[in-house]
Amino acid sequence: MRIQPANRRLGILLSGRGSNFEAIADRIASGKLNAEIAVVISNIESAPGFERARARGLTTVYIPSQRRPREEFDREVVEQLRKHNVSLVVLAGFMRLLSRVFLEAFPYGILNIHPALLPAFPGMDVQRQALEYGAKFSGCTVHFVDDTLDGGPIILQAVVPVRDDDTTETLSARILKEEHRIYSEAIDLVLSGHCEIESRRVLVK
Ligand code: GAR
Repeated sequence: MRIQPANRRLGILLSGRGSNFEAIADRIASGKLNAEIAVVISNIESAPGFERARARGLTTVYIPSQRRPREEFDREVVEQLRKHNVSLVVLAGFMRLLSRVFLEAFPYGILNIHPALLPAFPGMDVQRQALEYGAKFSGCTVHFVDDTLDGGPIILQAVVPVRDDDTTETLSARILKEEHRIYSEAIDLVLSGHCEIESRRVLVK
């Protein structure tokens, strides 16, 4: 199945620091990524990334998630994404699981970045897990989001070595540098319309 987003308008969802969002925004500003950030949505009003989005003059929408049914929150997010004519949703440190309501609104239209080489180490706090497990390599993965935890079809991965003197912080920093590089590359690839999904393999045609 060919993946062909209808336009180049991105909807960024974040809950925290927002360094991946900033790397994407910088890439667009420098002309290296042909895309437009249509809206930045956060469930945390004070998230540093959300403040940076406001400082950049981007359209921002705060949607509270606490003490609300997941579907209700997701419906509101989808409504905002549609309102801003988004065709590709980019999760950038968005710490929420998505319901069917959201997934069905954007089939193969939601990307996530994860700081491990999936399918190893899905979930949270995975840089520490890779280190403690004794993995000699780790890295990051950009994948389409489906109804499994960090289990959707893989678009791009980057590998980094795990060094003997690494701490969670030094390993996370090495991985993050690669995250910032491959997320924009994966967005570019998906927007190009050259991606095809065969069973769960993402192939570039
Ligand atoms: C990134 O390391 C990203 O890979 C991770 O959260 C961090 C967000 O940083 N995401 C996940 O663990 C998702 N399972 P950022 O807010 O600076 O982009």
